[in-house]
Amino acid sequence: MPRVKYGSVVRGLVILGLFCLWLQIMLSASSGGIYRDGEYSESVVYRGMSNGDAISELPGKEELMNANETSEQVLRLVPPELHKYLTVHARNASGNSTEKSVLRNITDIRRAIQRNNDAQTIYNEDIFGPVQNDTLIIAIQVHTRLTYLRHLIVSLAQARGIDKTLLVFSHDYYDEEINTLVRSIDFTKVMQIFYPYSIQTHPHEFPGRDPNDCPRDAKYDAAIKLGCNNAKHPDLHGHYREAEYTQTKHHWWWKANRIFNQLQCTAGHTGMVLFLEEDHYVAEDFIHMLNLLKSTADKTCPYCEILSLGTYLKTYQYHVNGDKRKKQLTLNYIQQVHAANEERRRRQQESQTWNFQVYPNLYSSKQKVEITPWHSSMHNMGFAFNRTVWNSIMELQDLFCNYDDYNWDYSLLKLSQNRPGREKFRVILCKGPRVFHIGECGIHHKKSNCNASTVISKVQKLLQNAKSYMYPNRVTATITAGGAKQNKKLVKGNGGWGDIRDRELCTNMTKIGRQRKQYTNTPHLADLL
Ligand SMILES: *[C@@H]1O[C@H](CO)[C@@H](O)[C@H](O)[C@H]1NC(C)=O
Ligand SMILES: *[C@@H]1O[C@H](CO)[C@@H](O)[C@H](O)[C@H]1NC(C)=O
Ligand SMILES: *[C@@H]1O[C@H](CO)[C@@H](O)[C@H](O)[C@H]1NC(C)=O
Ligand SMILES: *[C@@H]1O[C@H](CO)[C@@H](O)[C@H](O)[C@H]1NC(C)=O
Ligand SMILES: *[C@@H]1O[C@H](CO)[C@@H](O)[C@H](O)[C@H]1NC(C)=O
Ligand SMILES: *[C@@H]1O[C@H](CO)[C@@H](O)[C@H](O)[C@H]1NC(C)=O
Ligand SMILES: *[C@@H]1O[C@H](CO)[C@@H](O)[C@H](O)[C@H]1NC(C)=O
Ligand SMILES: *[C@@H]1O[C@H](CO)[C@@H](O)[C@H](O)[C@H]1NC(C)=O
Repeated sequence: MPRVKYGSVVRGLVILGLFCLWLQIMLSASSGGIYRDGEYSESVVYRGMSNGDAISELPGKEELMNANETSEQVLRLVPPELHKYLTVHARNASGNSTEKSVLRNITDIRRAIQRNNDAQTIYNEDIFGPVQNDTLIIAIQVHTRLTYLRHLIVSLAQARGIDKTLLVFSHDYYDEEINTLVRSIDFTKVMQIFYPYSIQTHPHEFPGRDPNDCPRDAKYDAAIKLGCNNAKHPDLHGHYREAEYTQTKHHWWWKANRIFNQLQCTAGHTGMVLFLEEDHYVAEDFIHMLNLLKSTADKTCPYCEILSLGTYLKTYQYHVNGDKRKKQLTLNYIQQVHAANEERRRRQQESQTWNFQVYPNLYSSKQKVEITPWHSSMHNMGFAFNRTVWNSIMELQDLFCNYDDYNWDYSLLKLSQNRPGREKFRVILCKGPRVFHIGECGIHHKKSNCNASTVISKVQKLLQNAKSYMYPNRVTATITAGGAKQNKKLVKGNGGWGDIRDRELCTNMTKIGRQRKQYTNTPHLADLL
């Protein structure tokens, strides 16, 4: 008898064990970030954490990232005539340091920025013709990640129809090496605009860090007693501003204002403006897809105000359990970024298996598009809208500028959810992405196996395998109500935007009107500076 009992106990344990195993598999399958048809799995982006404690990739690291990380493997898939964009010219470190001292002198950089912005020079206009009212404008926000920018340029160079566009590079870091690269582009019209309130040009004063600004973690009472500049204006989490974290939102806002409201060449522009960043990579048919999205929207979805070409390379779920979350909250932003990066890298190494199977939609002849509520962290990559939509954003600029969140995309989401008498933004997006985020590995992991080359060669191969499915003639559209995440009302922001100076600067940027070109013959002068 005892033997029988023992047997059934064992059987029970085995069944329980199997059940646990099954449960674990189910859980890991649902958290493994497998792209499931019909819905997005949580795509957590650089913010690392879901809204509530979102964080951006660490910006502001004033170091030009310009290593020769291009492996032979990557180079093989780049047409020889485009290798020039990947060639890293070693800085002339030895001997004459004239160039360096010029770059170090902030007065000179400010002058060069002003001169360049005033001139509004459009390179290659003589070859590719003037900007028309319906020209596709591609706005590229550039910080210092030159390695990635090189690859973005290579991908743009290979896109069909690129010669009809205007590329607007918007810089918050002035550097001759970056400028030389951008000005060497010869496949379409190019313009550079320079964000004039950067930390680089204001290292010891607002919008940079003023020595009399309150320390980030100062307590309110202590700050008041200290009498530091922004003592009365901590953010909603009780922290004081950090310049690096506000710059990206300022820059994004300034760039959009500059392009829609200030440049002379856009005075009558009614076409699309597509927003990219330096570490994106485009598929060769992205312009074709954008046009297809537009014509689909015109027919089936006139209320779709935003078009989106992108999604994230890999989708992960970021599990923040209670304990961890509490711990994270006690870290400062920079530590949080490191923690999130670490976590992301760990996950990446655990599952280095993503490949084209992640993107079944890129590999089908009947390509799908989806119409769904716009969400900041899902649809902030490779998205486009026109002036009509911009004007509706401008009407609610206070919501953007006064929302206590240093993320421009969450600020836009706030605006989207609070449009008087209007629905939130709808986006029409292609489910087979045409824009990829290659900068995921970050600046801080040079040693890991997650380097630029690794990611880029994966994207290259993915796109090569998908070649026969590119340039679809038509797409099938599905309308979805969106998941819980898309429909969740933002309650409070992520903070980092409590300082009234930031809000004021943001508002000030909208007050600048259209500016006539000056110094029409200055490219040379500007080059000299
Ligand atoms: C990048 O990673 C690949 C393999 O993952 C390696 O072969 C290559 O040497 C690495 N490059 C650099 C610059 O670390
Ligand atoms: C960059 O690295 C690749 C491969 O390691 C090499 O073939 C190429 O010559 C290098 N380019 C420069 C400009 O150093
Ligand atoms: C570095 O600068 C010196 C002096 O201007 C010049 O003679 C030399 O050719 C430069 N070297 C390179 C590699 O450009
Ligand atoms: C750098 O070169 C310029 C001329 O090219 C020369 O006038 C200057 O003295 C040099 N400076 C140094 C530090 O070598
Ligand atoms: C910057 O350099 C210019 C000459 O190139 C010089 O006149 C000016 O005094 C310098 N400014 C500073 C702050 O060093
Ligand atoms: C562009 O639009 C503006 C304003 O609507 C108009 O005055 C101008 O003629 C248009 N330009 C072209 C080339 O169609
Ligand atoms: C801009 O896009 C909106 C929404 O898609 C559309 O209704 C509007 O007609 C477009 N405006 C222009 C000037 O094309
Ligand atoms: C905004 O503009 C006003 C008026 O020109 C100016 O007094 C104020 O200093 C500006 N604020 C910031 C933060 O730039």
